[in-house]
Amino acid sequence: MTIGIGLLGLGTVGAGVAGILASPGGRHPLVGELELRRVAVRDPQRPRALELPAELLCTDANAVVDDPAVDIVVEVMGGLEPARSLILRAIAAGKPVVTANKAVIARYGQEIAAAAAAKGVYVLIEAAVGGGIPIIEPLKQSLGANRIQRVSGIINGTTNYILSRMAAEGAAYAEVLADAQRLGYAEADPAADVQGGDAADKIAILSGLAYGGPIERAAIPTEGIDRLDARDVAYAAQLGYVVKLLAVAQHLGSANQEGGDCQLLDVRVHPTLLPKQHPLAGVHGVNNAILVEGDPVGQVMFYGPGAGAGPTASAVVADILNIAGIQHVSGNQLQAPLDPLLAANSWRPCRLVDSSFTSHRNYVRLQTSDQPGVIGKIGTCFGEAGVSIQSIMQFEQTGGALGAGLQGLAPADAEIVVITHEVSEARFRAALTEIAALEEVAAVAACLRTL
Ligand code: NAP
Ligand code: HSE
Repeated sequence: MTIGIGLLGLGTVGAGVAGILASPGGRHPLVGELELRRVAVRDPQRPRALELPAELLCTDANAVVDDPAVDIVVEVMGGLEPARSLILRAIAAGKPVVTANKAVIARYGQEIAAAAAAKGVYVLIEAAVGGGIPIIEPLKQSLGANRIQRVSGIINGTTNYILSRMAAEGAAYAEVLADAQRLGYAEADPAADVQGGDAADKIAILSGLAYGGPIERAAIPTEGIDRLDARDVAYAAQLGYVVKLLAVAQHLGSANQEGGDCQLLDVRVHPTLLPKQHPLAGVHGVNNAILVEGDPVGQVMFYGPGAGAGPTASAVVADILNIAGIQHVSGNQLQAPLDPLLAANSWRPCRLVDSSFTSHRNYVRLQTSDQPGVIGKIGTCFGEAGVSIQSIMQFEQTGGALGAGLQGLAPADAEIVVITHEVSEARFRAALTEIAALEEVAAVAACLRTL
């Protein structure tokens, strides 16, 4: 008996999925029972690396979902609409869905999971985070016994590819981004990658699973690599750090509220200095890695290719096989009683805390005039605000060029980099306000979190 697959999208990921379905030899025997029955694209005339019979292609995605020959709907078209409506349409028709669309799941996951639970159909999302890395099912199932303290990771392949090549080759940002697009790593609009939105979508999904509740996507503080200065990458390297775009979800405690305990979380995305010996510091290129810290398991790290046709299709087809496997043991019934760990009735309330109440180590780069006493004054400002300095270093600049043109300020000819010990964001910001007001300081040029 074959299972009919309807594919919504035949781009990087869709073509990867179609390629696996077209060559079942040597794979799990169930792959041979999956048959691609219909495919929705925007432009059927577009030349494609993988040519499919013309009669499979159409531009009406609703028709793919509604086609009685389609048993499982695979959404790999991206974007919010019509992807969300198509997923809900498939669920309403009682058809299981596999999707790689983290943007939709991060925003509408609760609505989709509730609809799926009500209808008793699976919606599987392994490809939405970490490309080829199995992380969704492990978080939902294998690590379910743990109190998860922290989930942190490099979960955007495009930016890790850019940062790695900039650090290793001194390659230009725009040139490496173009390569990432050509290789199929980047989103249709790469702003989602470089501004951190894609990583924020993914950490919203991971933290929702880790802490068992819906996460307000819009509340996640997000900073990308688009404003990162190559100088900070270079200075960080001299100080023994690498800079990575890190997504972090940390459990801070719980608070009593009506309806039960509310999980208090610190969830954020930003460029971060990692000590070179940190397990995530050695993750290069398009690879992703997710470090899960839990009680009693300790640290578990998931590592592998985080984007691209093959790795992502590997995760999509694994989800299809999970559903097909259920059909095998339950006769021809593709509907599931419930996906217990996505069921709305087991969700807990979660709340993101205001970042001024969180504590971190920090890297600060200051542009200053090079004269006696400057470092002392900066140290005093930090000290008076209760910020303890771990290291302070001056990097010489030539010709006093940094401050030229800044009216009313002394010409800057030094850059001072400070790394603080862990301190509350509120104290740190108070110190920076004092420092920025010093007449010797031309600018607080960069602030980065440090692990
Ligand atoms: P893509 O290369 O841009 O492909 C999108 C496909 O969807 C194209 O075939 C396009 O048709 C089709 N499409 C778009 N809108 C449509 C519409 N309204 N009706 C019918 N067809 C439509 O995107 P992708 O890189 O494969 O990504 C797909 C999804 O997977 C996204 O949600 C993305 O975030 C996610 N994802 C991607 C990766 C990756 O490495 N690329 C990894 C993990 C997850 P045409 O071909 O005719 O333009
Ligand atoms: N654009 C995404 C990335 C694709 O670069 O990680 C994988 O989700």
